[in-house]
Amino acid sequence: MAKRTAKLILTEPDTVIDLPVYGGSLGHDVIDVRALVSKGVFTYDPGFMSTAACESAITFIDGAQGVLMHRGYPIEQLAAQSNYVELCYLLLFGELPTPEAYRQFEARIRNHTMVHGQIANFFQGFRRDAHPMAILCGVVGGLAAFYHDHLDTADSEDRLISAIRLVAKMPTIAAMSYKYALGQPFRQPRNDLSYAENFLHMMFSTPCEPYEVNPVFAKALDRILMLHADHEQNASTSTVRLAGSTGANPFACISAGIAALWGPAHGGANEAVLDMLEQIGDDSEANIQRFIDKAKDRNDPFRLMGFGHRVYSSFDPRARVMKETCDQVLAELGNPDDPTLRIAKRVEQIALEDDYFIQRKLYPNVDFYSGIILRAMGIPTNMFTVIFAVARTIGWISHWNEMIDGDLKIGRPRQLYVGPPRRNYPD
Ligand code: ACO
Repeated sequence: MAKRTAKLILTEPDTVIDLPVYGGSLGHDVIDVRALVSKGVFTYDPGFMSTAACESAITFIDGAQGVLMHRGYPIEQLAAQSNYVELCYLLLFGELPTPEAYRQFEARIRNHTMVHGQIANFFQGFRRDAHPMAILCGVVGGLAAFYHDHLDTADSEDRLISAIRLVAKMPTIAAMSYKYALGQPFRQPRNDLSYAENFLHMMFSTPCEPYEVNPVFAKALDRILMLHADHEQNASTSTVRLAGSTGANPFACISAGIAALWGPAHGGANEAVLDMLEQIGDDSEANIQRFIDKAKDRNDPFRLMGFGHRVYSSFDPRARVMKETCDQVLAELGNPDDPTLRIAKRVEQIALEDDYFIQRKLYPNVDFYSGIILRAMGIPTNMFTVIFAVARTIGWISHWNEMIDGDLKIGRPRQLYVGPPRRNYPD
């Protein structure tokens, strides 16, 4: 229902087009431009800076105020009081579960943690030094081959079982990609453990000796998963929606999302942050300033990794929780004065006082501190984005499900053609 009207005035010939304006429950109003195509014009918005591509009831972000809410619940409250599996339920179904619904949902996830025995064969095709994100893209896409024939994406129960399989199997596949690089045997999931505990078990246990999951690490990992679970229409989620809009297999769609997440401007940033902090080397003023100056230099493509965000123009609320978790993990390890954390805190401080970053409203994003926590837990840098992918799977699949349940239209952007006009092939 339109709450007001926008008038678009085109000149030569003079035309006025009335466009309905809709309001959501929160956030910016949107101008419905769908009628424009019949008037012979398209909108032009590279990077979708001003475009709402869909309606969604899953996540709300107010970038100016630093607000992130899932189904109406602020991320700070969820991070403090909930856990990853409950958040998965909330994202997927729209409401917090009753204790019984939670028990059943968690049991269903536990039931699907194992992967088909033949999946292990896929790994043999990869070089041992392959990036685990490359492996994840391939193996998750490969799941489509196992769950395709009987899957009807129009059937909500089929969609739910796909969602549960994905959430359940992602940690297993992620841990397998780590074990494969190490040359260690794959570890089977242990369904007596929580989601985060089981992930740590599959990553770090070996058949040779007992492995005790550190509860602080499990809590920290659970929180990292929660903070990365969903972020409305970001690049990877939009990729999943676009792929899914064609009716493609959900495992293939999630593989497309993993590919989009891998880039350093998106999920690859946490890996890039740690590389950057390691390159800085120490927390001397001169050293840090050199990197800050490099980031400010227009002729240098280098950017301060873990800073800036397309949507947040004030702080990223996830970064605050992440910084707190980082302090807890390092304190648990008896290393609260970790040199990398010292460099990170100093970089943050210097950047936040620098006019360049102040004017452009560049603040630390969620990934500025997550890498330090993951490294402290013994997780190698090239696995950071993999963990982000594990966490974001529920966001991707919830959006995919919402899209199919709604008014599904194939995603098909248009273009401003700037190539040669018609010409004839030379005789
Ligand atoms: N370091 C230095 N300058 C920056 C940075 C940065 N990290 N981020 C943005 N800027 C500058 C740009 O150079 C530009 O300056 P100008 O106006 O003088 O040309 C201005 O700030 C605006 O930048 P845009 O690139 O237009 O902003 P955009 O919204 O397109 O980019 C992005 C957002 C990609 C996140 C960017 O800030 C960036 O590259 N950050 C570093 C990578 C990173 O941390 N990514 C993780 C994002 S969070 C996530 O995916 C979970």
